Amino acid sequence: MSAPRGQFSSNVGFLMAAAGSAVGLGNIWGFPTKAASNGGAAFVVVYLFMAFLLAYPALMAELTIGRHARRNMVQALRGIARGPVTRFLGGLTGFGGILVASLILSFYAIVAGWMVAHLAEPFATLIGAGGIADWLTGDSTPRNLTVTAIFSGLTMLIIASGVEKGIERWSTLLMPSLILLLLLLIIYVLAQDGAMKGLEVYLMPDFSQLSPELMLSAMGQAFFSLSLGVGTMLIYGSYLSRQESLPRLGALVTLIDVGIAFTAGLLILPAMYVAQEAGTQIFSDTGELIAGPGLIMQVLPALFDTMGTAGLFVAIAFFALMVIASLTSSISMLEVPVAFAIENLGIGRRLATPLVGLAIFAISSLIIFNFDALFGLVVSISTEFGQPILGVALCIFAGWIWRRDQLLAELEKGHENVEQTLFWKVWPWYVRIVCPLLILAAFLQSLL
Ligand code: PFF
Repeated sequence: MSAPRGQFSSNVGFLMAAAGSAVGLGNIWGFPTKAASNGGAAFVVVYLFMAFLLAYPALMAELTIGRHARRNMVQALRGIARGPVTRFLGGLTGFGGILVASLILSFYAIVAGWMVAHLAEPFATLIGAGGIADWLTGDSTPRNLTVTAIFSGLTMLIIASGVEKGIERWSTLLMPSLILLLLLLIIYVLAQDGAMKGLEVYLMPDFSQLSPELMLSAMGQAFFSLSLGVGTMLIYGSYLSRQESLPRLGALVTLIDVGIAFTAGLLILPAMYVAQEAGTQIFSDTGELIAGPGLIMQVLPALFDTMGTAGLFVAIAFFALMVIASLTSSISMLEVPVAFAIENLGIGRRLATPLVGLAIFAISSLIIFNFDALFGLVVSISTEFGQPILGVALCIFAGWIWRRDQLLAELEKGHENVEQTLFWKVWPWYVRIVCPLLILAAFLQSLL
């Protein structure tokens, strides 16, 4: 017989795990740079609205389906279906989620691998191994394969240890460390010359930049940031006790996600302007702030170089922050296919994890060998197409296919009087109509 299903031991454990999934490279790298080039605090305000108006209701739908079913995404969606057609569509959406979660992980692990390389580099420098330090930052195929393998291996180790001893234990350890590192780095960077200019660019709202496109871009960012659509939140919800309040925990996850994204801006933007003060170019040839890989791989390392020995420790703190943020997200992605393998193929976690993990590492390797052709393509297929399409499908399952009374009954467990609150009375309609339309609008805009 298969082992009993895992469960988070406490609401804090769940909170750390779900917030850990949400808080990732999207918060620390994606959000601040998007805000800086889209009207600063104006973007922040729009983002806040989108996070609570679109992402929170959709997050609640995923969590509720997961906790009700206490199964992986395929079985969960099949379970709430009402006939052969919707059962088939449930299975299709579930498999879609597993595929897209795996694809996101395949490119995410490469980027996280770069963070591992930059974290190891100052250690190599400290012990005088200059050759290794150069290799680590050299962007060669062997380097990329090695660091991606290290990061994927760490992800597999945590997942192989299970829900409570792996996901919960590590998230509970890593999330507070992440917040501490972030705060220490902010204090250090704000004391440097040029930091205030960065703060100004970040916090002075430029409302003239507000446009429908900006709103839709904020929506896409909120969706990616809350890890929606691909079943990570569904599977984490499936490990949560019925005694805990879903509305409250979901709201806290959203708050932590938005809070850390905002706080990361207080680090990244000032750091860029400190780098400029120190002589590093922070604008591209077309006059825009450098936001892509150049920011993390060139601008910030150049800044740390100007800081002497202190720079080595600042670099270690910064890249440790990036690795931690990535790891608490990558484990949630790997758990989606692993839970499916355990529950549908009947194999144990210790076998399922390396099987699935190595298959995903094989995709990462394929991308590394064909980087120019595949990297952008996989990012686009998984996050610009897969995530929104699946997001709409999940809302349709929660809002149209599942029975409203069952949806609300699940929500009510651990949270009394749900049906007396206006918000939760409206919510099923909202998930039915408003969420799919908003997600579709963002999707169509990104296509155009
Ligand atoms: N939320 C993560 C981030 O902001 O970096 C990314 C992510 C994790 C997306 C898990 C999708 C996912 F399933």
